[in-house]
Amino acid sequence: MNTSIEHRVTPVKHIMQTDARHARLPHAAEYEGGAAFSGGRYSPIQDATVPMLDMGFRNADATYDVVSVSRGMFFRLDYHLDRIDRSTERFRLRSPYDRAQTVEILTELLRLAGLRDAYVWWAVTRGVARPGAASNRPSAYENRFYAFVMPYSFIADDEMRQRGFDMMISRQYLRIPTESVDSRAKNFHWMDLRQSIFEAAEAGHQIPVLCDSRQMLAECPGANIFVLAGGRLMTPAQHCLEGGTRQSVLDLAAEIRVPTFVGDIPASTLRAADEVFITSTAGGIMPVTRLEGQPIGRGTPGPITTLLHNLYWEKRWAGWHATPVRYEFKAGL
Ligand SMILES: Cc1ncc(COP(=O)(O)O)c(C=O)c1O
Repeated sequence: MNTSIEHRVTPVKHIMQTDARHARLPHAAEYEGGAAFSGGRYSPIQDATVPMLDMGFRNADATYDVVSVSRGMFFRLDYHLDRIDRSTERFRLRSPYDRAQTVEILTELLRLAGLRDAYVWWAVTRGVARPGAASNRPSAYENRFYAFVMPYSFIADDEMRQRGFDMMISRQYLRIPTESVDSRAKNFHWMDLRQSIFEAAEAGHQIPVLCDSRQMLAECPGANIFVLAGGRLMTPAQHCLEGGTRQSVLDLAAEIRVPTFVGDIPASTLRAADEVFITSTAGGIMPVTRLEGQPIGRGTPGPITTLLHNLYWEKRWAGWHATPVRYEFKAGL
């Protein structure tokens, strides 16, 4: 494995588009955009619908998860299955499908769409209360399951990752505290995140980071944050998702012997940081090279960020935490 310091982030998107190991498998034309599972039925993604009365839609009363697939391999599938098990429990939800059935549905969706690089999403919603049932009890509801797969999408493409994001510390929005909506469980409460995206764009920046009420860093829309300062790679412990990519970075940091810290990080630390990056299933490790227009470090992706970014993909493609997708398997569900 190549662990020397490299200066360029690997052009992952370009590789996915040009390397035969990423090529799409045969699939029907209507599945070109992806495949979905809703109401117990598989369909092309553009035909899938959500029942209007489902509390998941009406009250953001749901949990979900996302796992990625590259070169025909799920990445950290067990981590994501464990996480959604914890999330359903925290929100008093119950999936109508067990783990094996969930994997069967996700596999069938990948097979239908012929995707070897995919963004794989599934949700458990509150559903609708059974007629006459006491609606103040979780047992009154028939929880529902939805899923879709799409071609793998990048929050930041190759060019963006090589340049790095210009980040803004949100002034108007605090991350919803875990005491209100358990942010360790992936949830649909995105209004603070969505509004902060608009706030950052209006101020001329590319990505916001939200803090908690103590001005400690929390997380970004759809991503965790890491800050390298004083020789330590730090990430928040509270008011953020237990990100799968965050866990991968903590594992990789141990491997390359970079000390880590998971705890409170004052937002002001960003101003003196050597390197900053964000992490997400949708895009891996994404450098942040400016804070509100001012360079972070040298204003280019730093050596540790670049090394982690490249290792993450190199190891994944070599089979790290991989579960091969059984495309030949025909689902009974
Ligand atoms: C709010 C939030 N934080 C963090 C993340 C990153 O988590 P993961 O690395 O598991 O994708 C996500 C993922 O989409 C998210 O929605």
